[in-house]
Amino acid sequence: MRKHLFALGGAGLLLGVSIIAAQAQIVPPTTPPDPPKFDAQGTPNFVGAKDLYEYGTLPEYHEPDFVKAFVDAERLPPIEERLPKEPLIFKSSNMPDGIGVYGDVMRHVIGGRPEGWNYMAGQSQGWGGIDMGTMECLTRTGPLFEIKADELAPLPNLAKSWEWSEDGHQLTMHLIEGAKWSDGVPFTTEDAIFYWEDNVLDPNVSPLNGATPETFGEGTTLTALDDYTLLWTFKEAFPKQYIYQMAYGTFCPGPAHIFKPLHPKYKAGATYDEYKNAIPPEYLNIPVMGAWVPVEYRPDDIVVMRRNPYYWKVDDQGNQLPYLNEVQYRLSTWADRDVQAVAGTGDFSNLEQAESYVEALKRSADPAAPARLAFGARTIGYTLFPNLSGNGWGEPDERQQAIRELNRNDDFRKAISYAIDRQRLGEALVKGPFTAIYPGGLYAGTTYYDKDSTVYYPYSLESAKELLKKAGLEDTDGNGVVNFPAGTAGGADVEITLLANADYQTDKNLAEGVIAMMEPLGIRVIANFLTGTQRDATEQAGKFDWRVARNGAELIAVVQNTVALAPTGPQISNSHRAGTDGTLDLLPWEQQLVDTVNAFIATDDAAKRKELMKQYQKLYTENLFGIGLTQYPGALIINKRFANIPAGAPIFMFNWAEDNIIRERVYVPADKQQNYELHPNTLPGAPGSAGAESL
Ligand code: GLA
Repeated sequence: MRKHLFALGGAGLLLGVSIIAAQAQIVPPTTPPDPPKFDAQGTPNFVGAKDLYEYGTLPEYHEPDFVKAFVDAERLPPIEERLPKEPLIFKSSNMPDGIGVYGDVMRHVIGGRPEGWNYMAGQSQGWGGIDMGTMECLTRTGPLFEIKADELAPLPNLAKSWEWSEDGHQLTMHLIEGAKWSDGVPFTTEDAIFYWEDNVLDPNVSPLNGATPETFGEGTTLTALDDYTLLWTFKEAFPKQYIYQMAYGTFCPGPAHIFKPLHPKYKAGATYDEYKNAIPPEYLNIPVMGAWVPVEYRPDDIVVMRRNPYYWKVDDQGNQLPYLNEVQYRLSTWADRDVQAVAGTGDFSNLEQAESYVEALKRSADPAAPARLAFGARTIGYTLFPNLSGNGWGEPDERQQAIRELNRNDDFRKAISYAIDRQRLGEALVKGPFTAIYPGGLYAGTTYYDKDSTVYYPYSLESAKELLKKAGLEDTDGNGVVNFPAGTAGGADVEITLLANADYQTDKNLAEGVIAMMEPLGIRVIANFLTGTQRDATEQAGKFDWRVARNGAELIAVVQNTVALAPTGPQISNSHRAGTDGTLDLLPWEQQLVDTVNAFIATDDAAKRKELMKQYQKLYTENLFGIGLTQYPGALIINKRFANIPAGAPIFMFNWAEDNIIRERVYVPADKQQNYELHPNTLPGAPGSAGAESL
């Protein structure tokens, strides 16, 4: 009754039309409040790319004594034969603590579980940096957090240099020459082409991290000119953006000599499923280009990795990297990763589940604490994503299809956004200045963020209810849950399933918060909490109405994985993929979103790019491609015995901290070394053999 009076007392008296009176109740969108002040601890030492590393030769090379013993026993070729013609040379002048010493272990704890080693066909290794220790990619972006703004561009890696043709349509890439996989087999363009042709381009294969042909631009081709030269051809001129996509995790070739013979194209009678699952985690010594090779696996217990004797990176005194002989991955939970890192029984954590911040801070404040903890910027963010496909992605049934239509309705998405009390949602995770109201899209505090281009629907249940009515939803049977209109899904209650990752308390808490906030709106939301790999598969398959998820890196740096900012290709977006007929039924504003992202990719002009990202932010937040929930800072926890941890290393920016800290360069000073190696004095054995080998 009061509401009614209020409406009449406002515009109602003059206009006397109830529908306008009703609309007057909708609180207008605004710009978001400024996030509470929270200073990041430690600023990077900004440098040029060439200050970090270059390729070249050195008068002599060194290796750990125990590795030299393998050479002396003729079990391993001499180091000069194992290294490429021109190894990648890290400059000691840029190392925070200088040249390191060999030995010790980084003890990781992870919540994921390895499915197997064929990440090219989509198998996860359990995350938490396991894959980053094994895979190397054409380019590298993790360390870009410390590269000067005017030199910001992907760093070389397996591709040591590249040049553009005059018209900008061709990019010639030179791979490191004479580098070898960890089993001694040469790494060549055959590995890159196998990844491209038989994994990225093969529609039956979905590589981990979602590389699709469009990840590198529609119509792009890749060929090998010789063993060490790749030729990219692009439709656009100078699409430099795609070089970022050649970094982790979308262009990291696996060993063709292992996987090619298993691929259905080359193995008569093999299925794609068999190809994907042919190399389970039990298969040890899978050849890698990364610094460490998996030599032991115990389900739900541990993965142990030993140094790769063929690793192709050195320091400028010729010491072959990595400095750490071993890395371990305890297979536990993500929350346990925080607990163990703080307690000193683990060595590393990305503190990212806000629920444990206060406790972790308290314990790390003690000067005797074994680990240091440093907060970065607010780059951990969560979004509620409605499934926007209306033409069959995920094969929806009648009810699900009716939800898809709702998801595609502007008033409906706005209603949901108005019904979310973001302040309360953030505070429910952690009290204090950590969380900030996040309307969606680019994060406050990042380079391309523009507050005035950010449309925020402030918490207002009234507005939400009005918009829901406009979307045609009313509680016709009086049971507290709104019904579809009579002609849709039999006029049933609106029930929506919400997919979230059960491996993280934060994901579950935020999803539960959303569920609770939908209740007064009369929308029944049912949790579908699945464990990591199952959740990922469900998302990839489009089998969800809504999902709550941690955002990808594209929303932070924008230049990394830019294609993922919108459904720029049929299989690129995790919220909107092509339907059963292979087409994307983009809504008009989604098409604008895609055009804006493509225009961003096509230009190098800094001013234009800034404008385009303002446009992007406006389109995203006004139309709610995703409904932002909260954003907050993460902290890197690292045991104090480690040296060469770069200042201001963020846990998540261009990549995760496992790559940002440049682990191959990290070491433990001699007086701090511990006897943590589980397989001391051993090296990886032959691919598929029982484990590490000793002399
Ligand atoms: C998981 C963790 C992150 C990070 C990444 C690395 O997603 O939650 O903190 O370790 O793995 O891939």
